[in-house]
Amino acid sequence: MCDRSLISSTFVTNALATDPATLADTARQPFDIRAFDAPLGAEVIGLELSRPLSAEDFARIHRAHLDYHVLVFRDQRITPAEQVEFSRRFGPLQIHVLHQFSLAQNPEVLIVSNITENGKPIGLGDAGHFWHSDLSYKEKPSLGSMLHAQELPSEGGDTLFANMHAAYDALPAHLRDATEGLRAEHTYLARYAELQKRSPWRPNLTPEQIAQVKPVVHPVVRTHPETGRRALFVSEHFTTRIVGLPEDESRALLDELFAHSVKPEFVYRHRWAERDMVFWDNRSLMHLAAGTPDHLRRKLYRTTIEGDTPF
Ligand code: SIN
Repeated sequence: MCDRSLISSTFVTNALATDPATLADTARQPFDIRAFDAPLGAEVIGLELSRPLSAEDFARIHRAHLDYHVLVFRDQRITPAEQVEFSRRFGPLQIHVLHQFSLAQNPEVLIVSNITENGKPIGLGDAGHFWHSDLSYKEKPSLGSMLHAQELPSEGGDTLFANMHAAYDALPAHLRDATEGLRAEHTYLARYAELQKRSPWRPNLTPEQIAQVKPVVHPVVRTHPETGRRALFVSEHFTTRIVGLPEDESRALLDELFAHSVKPEFVYRHRWAERDMVFWDNRSLMHLAAGTPDHLRRKLYRTTIEGDTPF
């Protein structure tokens, strides 16, 4: 079930971008937050993200995001520019290295889509094919991501989220001991060639793009900077090796951690509804795109908020 850990005074956010004083006169909106019957997640009913949020409403959303890790805002009629504005209230935005799939007018918005127009993909069609936490391959991985449904398939297209706090808490003692103090390498290029074979439309990276995604090293178990909770922080997509372990031991430990972390008891499956805006916490979760049949169209807009250096 969902954890509802309180923010400890030592883990206070530094990410809130808008001065609350400037929002003092903004009207509050009546809305409900309902927890899912799942290991994570809640839906927010009645809030319009296209309107400026009062400081009180924003604080409630921020608190719920920390408690539930995924918030599903129903029926959002929101423009990409408004999505950018709301996302920015949590921190600076990150532009994906495959910038050719950004919206021309709003480069902070990544198009996640399997649609092709004039023989060319309009977006990143296989984003999320492997379990991952967004941008874990950066020195400052993502705090959270927002995905807004533009066009949904009549079947498939679900997104799965796994609770990495619950996965850490449930580690068998030998694995918990084994992870203590370990660090692991993450790289965007880990499975790029493999993805290119499956999806030949994936562009070759330019030298400039490769320079933007140099391998980084992060703790295998990270501490959430706002709640103080520990979470597993390795993924099948981007984590390549555990620093300081022989290759075979590193591979065996990573495989065991990957298999453990996505057990059904840690996973919520999101079945998209029209105009859903889903906002997840990359410091607490991994996610996976379950896949869309090739003949069906799917398009979503993603904004990605920069987080802290993991510790
Ligand atoms: C992603 O990994 O950001 C995309 C997830 C999805 O398309 O469901």
